[in-house]
Order: sequence, then structure tokens, then C-alpha cells
Amino acid sequence: MLFYSILFFTFLLRFVFVMTAVDTIDGETRCSTIGCLGKRLGPRILGRRFESSVPEVIYQVLEEPIGKDELQGRSDIPQSLDEFMTEIKDINIDARTFAVKLREMVTLLEERTRNAKIQEYLYRHVASSSIPKQLHCLTLRLADEHSTNAAARLQLPSAEFVPALVDNSFFHFVLSSDNVLAASVVATSLVQNSLRPHNVVLHIITDRKTYSPMQAWFSLHPLSPAIIEVKALHHLIGLRRPNVIAAKLQALSPKYNSVMNHIRIHLPEMFPSLNKVVFLDDDVVVQTDLSPLWDIDMKGKVNGAVETCRGGDKFVMSKRFKSYLNFSHPLISKNFNPNTCAWAYGMNIFDLEAWRKTNISLTYHYWLEQNLKSDLSLWQLGTLPPGLIAFHGHVHVIDPFWHMLGFGYQENTSSIYAKTAGVIHFNGRAKPWLEIAFPQLRPFWAKYVDFSDKFIKGCHIRAS
Ligand SMILES: *[C@@H]1O[C@H](CO)[C@@H](O)[C@H](O)[C@H]1NC(C)=O
Ligand SMILES: *[C@@H]1O[C@H](CO)[C@@H](O)[C@H](O)[C@H]1NC(C)=O
Ligand SMILES: *[C@@H]1O[C@H](CO)[C@@H](O)[C@H](O)[C@H]1NC(C)=O
Repeated sequence: MLFYSILFFTFLLRFVFVMTAVDTIDGETRCSTIGCLGKRLGPRILGRRFESSVPEVIYQVLEEPIGKDELQGRSDIPQSLDEFMTEIKDINIDARTFAVKLREMVTLLEERTRNAKIQEYLYRHVASSSIPKQLHCLTLRLADEHSTNAAARLQLPSAEFVPALVDNSFFHFVLSSDNVLAASVVATSLVQNSLRPHNVVLHIITDRKTYSPMQAWFSLHPLSPAIIEVKALHHLIGLRRPNVIAAKLQALSPKYNSVMNHIRIHLPEMFPSLNKVVFLDDDVVVQTDLSPLWDIDMKGKVNGAVETCRGGDKFVMSKRFKSYLNFSHPLISKNFNPNTCAWAYGMNIFDLEAWRKTNISLTYHYWLEQNLKSDLSLWQLGTLPPGLIAFHGHVHVIDPFWHMLGFGYQENTSSIYAKTAGVIHFNGRAKPWLEIAFPQLRPFWAKYVDFSDKFIKGCHIRAS
């Protein structure tokens, strides 16, 4: 039943995205419930016959069980979301028919995709993406502070530092996150370990709902002399809309239902004046000065990344294209080699100048569409598989020192080993802000959290 609900929700979300992406990048309203989404959707889908609420009949129909044989041999059920959309646009449909069709389509798609592997993936992602209440508390407190305290609403950065944001003599880092605590650890660890913090610019991109808490946090916890910029997605004009729609369409799982994960592919447009940036995920911790990354000769390549197919840890370092892409599918097997070494997101050098001369972003969106058209049979989840495809031939391999992986799933990683890396990455389920974090690894993250801070303390976020 959970699986069914997740699928239903993700398909509905997909659907909502198509509708809302036309209007706005980050959504005019913040909808967190089906009811709210329905309110936005209802009038449009149903030809403005229903003013502002979801007709009760929709819920009734969606909750009716559907017999196993009911769908057998029927040819009138939409086979894909595209078909469904076309159908409901073409005919003057009423709420009941809409709901019946939606239910049938979702059931059909569920049957088609019911596959142990997808299920397992989804459960795993659900488990790791549930937000612990302490983090929720932190967001709420900071939002409250933002509305009551002018010192929590500073322009970030202040006017005198604005020119630095587009100045290529600075070291520019980009972090996209909707988790204030995680972002604070990345920022603090980056700045504290920098030998030239006054040359560091960190661009933090967040979503609409996290913008105020994020701004409040960094207003009240400045990391000067480093320069911190906080921006929300909806401030970033210049993102080409079709790309955003594609990105939203890709958002098919609870974990990935935010555009935050697709930000990377828009870097050249988001930072039109910058030549080079280092992109950090919000589950990394920086343990060294990162300015030498700017001295690496990228040999004309776009993406500086660590390889993940060889290395000391045979468990973590065993990833090839076949680990992420479905080579039983002719589109994949025709175009790629299953044994090509994979690389990792999390700590990447992006040469934006070189990037702008390529078709990487187009390729990325082309493959997203192909995957949607083939009902997610090219790959299942995540932004790495299309990244592997789009950056194919554009990757410059950097020393593994710069990015040690697996801290969220390799329990055997020792703390002695962890100390030897420049950047460590808690990729995997056991995020350091969750209770399931590995106890010997969490301190590498926790040392950058000030547990005596009034917000941290007030939300009962503790060292262990
Ligand atoms: C980008 O794509 C266009 C159209 O498909 C093609 O003509 C062009 O050669 C491509 N450019 C590069 C750098 O691959
Ligand atoms: C991989 O592709 C094949 C061929 O299209 C398809 O039958 C199969 O279901 C796909 N596997 C997954 C896990 O999607
Ligand atoms: C972790 O270490 C144990 C004991 O040394 C070993 O049996 C196990 O296979 C290791 N697990 C992984 C994933 O490397």
C-alpha cells in the first residue's frame, strides 16, 4: 500500500509539475499536501468548473479498490503520462472520469513497474529522506527569527561584497541545499580549513521554503572574511524553462522531488560571468584547503571528478556504467560501454567556460526525456546516471584525495582512513544528521556544529 501511495504521489507530482512549471520556476504557492496541489490543479484540469477545492468524488474514486482483472485487455487506459495528459486536454472531462482514468493509469503503471529493485530503491530513499524533527525545528525557529529580528534578514552578501560574486579572481564554490544544518557544516568546514578565506565566495542556492531560515542562519553566523551568498531558486532568472520542466519531470521519487538535485546542470546559466566553480553536495565535509583545485590542469575537460571504479575500498570503488544504467536496453547498449569507469558527484570542479562550448546540458535533457518516454527503463533514480551520460568524454579524473566516498553506506570506513582525505562524502543512507549515522564517522561532521549555539541547543541537536 505504501508503494502504491508513493507511486501515486510521484505520478501526481509529475503531473503537477507539468502544470506549474509553465507558470513559475519554483511554484507560486507552497503546496505540501495533495489537497493543496489539488486546489491548484482542480480548476485547470476540470475546465474551471470547480473553483477552489478538490471535488470529493476524486478522493472517493481514488480510494476505491481496483480489481485485478478489471484492467485486463482494456485498450482505453492511457499507457503513459503523456497519453493521459493528451486525453484529458482533448476531451471535456468531468471529475469522476478524471479520477477513474488516473486511478487506472496509476494502477497500470504500478503493475508495469512493480519490480523488486525499484521497490527496494524507493523504500531506501524514503527511509533516508524523512526529516528528523530536530531539523524541522531548526528551520521553524530560524524562520521565526527571520520574521522578528532585522539582524536575521541581512542582504547576503552586503553591498560592498557584491562585485566579488562575479569576480573570477576569487575561489567560487556552489552549494545547493534545503538543509540549513548540513549547509552550515559544509560552509564552516570549507572556510575554517581555507588558507585564504578572504578569497572564498560560497554561493548557497536553496528553495523557496528554506530561503528565510537559510538567510537567517548565515546572517547570524557570518563566516567572514569569506563571502557567503544566499539565493533561492526563484531568484535565479535566466534558467531556461524547458530545462526546468524536464528537471521537474525527472522528479519521480520522494527523495528527488526537488529541483535542488538538478541544479548542477544549470550552472553555466546560473553563473554567466564565472569561469570555474567547485560544486559541493550538502553531505560533504571539507577537511583541507581547497584552493589547489584551481591549479589543476583540466586539459580542456569540463568536469573534474574522482573515479569510482578502482581504489583501496573494493566495496565503494566498484562502480562502472553498468552499475547505474540498464544495458539490457538497446538505447544504452548501443551508445555506451558497460565497463566504462563511473565517477562521483559531491565534489566536482566545473570549468564553465569549457562547458559553454559543449552540448552537455542539451544532452542531459535529451536523455531525461528518453528515460521518461521509456517509463524509466534506462535508469531508475537519481541525477548521476544522466550525468554520466551527459558528461561522457568531458570528465577529467582528479586525485582520490579530493573526494572520499561512501561514508553513508560503508560501515567499515575507519576514522584513521577518514582523516586522510581532503573532502569526505556521506553519500548513502547514513547521513551524519540522522540517528543511523555510523558512530565512528559522525564526529568528522559533528566537529563543525556548535552545539552550544542557541538555535542548535534549542532544537535538542546533540553531539551524539
Ligand atoms: C551541438 O549540437 C548541434 C546540433 O545537434 C551540433 O550541430 C553541434 O555540432 C554540437 N556541438 C558540439 C560542440 O558538440
Ligand atoms: C531494462 O531494459 C529492458 C529492455 O527495454 C527492460 O525490459 C527492463 O525492464 C529494463 N530493466 C529495468 C530494471 O528497468
Ligand atoms: C566489513 O568488515 C567485515 C569484517 O572485517 C567484513 O566481513 C565485511 O565484508 C566488510 N564489509 C564491507 C561492505 O566491506
